[in-house]
Amino acid sequence: MRLVRSVAELRIAVKALREQGLRIGFVPTMGFLHEGHASLIRQCASRCDATVVSIFVNPTQFSPNEDLAKYPQDLEADQSLCLKLGVSLLFLPEAQEMYPSNFQTFIEPGRVAEPLCGKYRPGHFRGVATVVAKLFNMVQPDLAFFGQKDLQQTAVIKRMVRDLNLPVDIAVVPTMREPDGLAMSSRNVYLGPEERKRALSISLALFSAESAFKSGERGAARLLSLALECLWGVDELQYCELVDASSLEPVVGLVDRTVAICVAAFVGSTRLIDNLILSPNPEAQGILSVGPD
Ligand code: PAF
Repeated sequence: MRLVRSVAELRIAVKALREQGLRIGFVPTMGFLHEGHASLIRQCASRCDATVVSIFVNPTQFSPNEDLAKYPQDLEADQSLCLKLGVSLLFLPEAQEMYPSNFQTFIEPGRVAEPLCGKYRPGHFRGVATVVAKLFNMVQPDLAFFGQKDLQQTAVIKRMVRDLNLPVDIAVVPTMREPDGLAMSSRNVYLGPEERKRALSISLALFSAESAFKSGERGAARLLSLALECLWGVDELQYCELVDASSLEPVVGLVDRTVAICVAAFVGSTRLIDNLILSPNPEAQGILSVGPD
């Protein structure tokens, strides 16, 4: 595995891979890698000839009241995981090169960035879209991998790729869960033991709605109220919504298409998100195809 820090070095290394005719896969991350990232990297390795992973804690996707400086990091552990998983290139860009002084050009995502997390994290998806576009330009991958847990992020990125004709395909990988069902997240490390137990109510709420859906319940209000009944453990619920899995627009009345049930909540001071895909078509149940294909 090669470790590169500058864009110039990265471009030379990627060019060498391309000259060998290799299909390049890319997994952008903010580090503190866990099994969820490992599953993205494994998928990438199984579908591409060379895997590029980036680690960069992107300041523009944090708002001033979110603690960027507190974001967990463990570069040594990340490096050994990437090595173990057969990553070809580990890209660790410097903040100064990603955002040179007087940086002023951003990608402005449209309506898809407005609901759900967009309401509570203004500017977040603008920062995500901007850094991902920059990383795509630097790595120039054939295929890039994102997790279903960040459902709205994948929708924003798919939309950006389509709208800006970026020459990359986007693959969405199912959410990895702890054995008890909690969605894996770098933020889980902030949870104290008692909070960790209460955090479980988020996935239980989603599973409760899913189980009613599988038993034939199609009323959006009923599915949401079943989920809400389970959300006893959270300290502040931001949203629990049923949305169209492609447009992310709210679904009311009867669920007659593939939807996502999405939750964002604080447990203590930790903000957690999770979602499940519900589809009336049993073959599409749990399978995500967010945003435009
Ligand atoms: O999902 C993440 O870890 C980040 O939002 C991403 C895509 C690496 C952009 O900073």
